[in-house]
Amino acid sequence: MVKFYPEFKQSITFSIFEIKNSMKLNLSVNFAGIKFKNPVLVASGTFGYGYELADLVPLKKLGGIVTKTITLEPRHGNLQPRIAEVASGMLNTIGLQNIGVKAFIEEPLEKLNKIEVPFIVSVAGATVNEYVETVKILSRQNGISAIELNLSCPNLKKKIVCHDLSLMSDVIKGVKKISKVPVIAKLSPLVTDISELALATQNAGADGVTLANTYPAMAIDVETLKPRLSTVKGGMSGACVKPMSVRCVYDAYQSIKIPIVGCGGIMTGEDAIEFMLAGATAVSVGSASLVSPKNLLNIIGEFENILKEKNIKSAKEIVGMLNTAKNTC
Ligand SMILES: Cc1cc2nc3c(=O)[nH]c(=O)nc-3n(C[C@H](O)[C@H](O)[C@H](O)COP(=O)(O)O)c2cc1C
Repeated sequence: MVKFYPEFKQSITFSIFEIKNSMKLNLSVNFAGIKFKNPVLVASGTFGYGYELADLVPLKKLGGIVTKTITLEPRHGNLQPRIAEVASGMLNTIGLQNIGVKAFIEEPLEKLNKIEVPFIVSVAGATVNEYVETVKILSRQNGISAIELNLSCPNLKKKIVCHDLSLMSDVIKGVKKISKVPVIAKLSPLVTDISELALATQNAGADGVTLANTYPAMAIDVETLKPRLSTVKGGMSGACVKPMSVRCVYDAYQSIKIPIVGCGGIMTGEDAIEFMLAGATAVSVGSASLVSPKNLLNIIGEFENILKEKNIKSAKEIVGMLNTAKNTC
């Protein structure tokens, strides 16, 4: 017995090592009842209707897809130029160009249903009725995991919908009444107190919130002495907005119970982790996939590697970790 002891000890050590390594990292998260295999989604408007880039990215690897925003009637969007590059980011003024809900259910929806990745349909309207009617049509269809209400677009008075609290609440309540799937409210970050606004979406019945849309901005071409966007002003996204969006998530996380999709400037797996530490259950990536759709896979891969390095066994463990940890600095 004594003679074989060293080998015995070695084999035990080896087995423990094997067991430790075989404990699989669980990347999945549950968001308002929707299971995403990993927390990285594509953000609305930066990945078409969600299936067109299948040749460039294996869609099955994504946590989920948020479609380009659709409206009741088709929209041409704004005049060109609608995009301008700025330091560490970009401006856009697409103006909700889309084919309208009826055409959406004829083709894109059918194709999305074949992908086997949860998809969320983004919806906008200028009135409560437009939101409700669009969701009514979508509610007759199968396969949709959730509705994301783009509440950052202008209403009939050209005000941003979520800047009018009673209109925003009516939109959420109206849609909740008829939607068969969870409803996520996507907010503009241009507000005095994002936590109050997030709380108002929760009180109106939203199942989740996306923080945040683009930041109001503009840029001027000094060569031509003209604005760089046809509408003069537009929305800023990309790496430069990340710290502001992380703060939105952190602030909202203190006041709401519904889950948060963190969005704004995520370019790396580390960025995604930052949003989750601040309180996001999932993240959505926009501008980085416009730079290269392959960035989405890099973000997922980096995210996984960082959790492994830190010996964290499941993605959901890090949600809001910053809030519960004692800050000693
Ligand atoms: C070209 C472009 C088009 C967009 N279209 C939409 C849209 O249709 N609906 C929407 O809710 N957000 C839209 N967004 C905002 C993004 O979904 C996202 O909230 C924002 O870009 C911040 O994320 P990012 O910094 O990762 O790009 C768009 C952004 C860009 C850059």
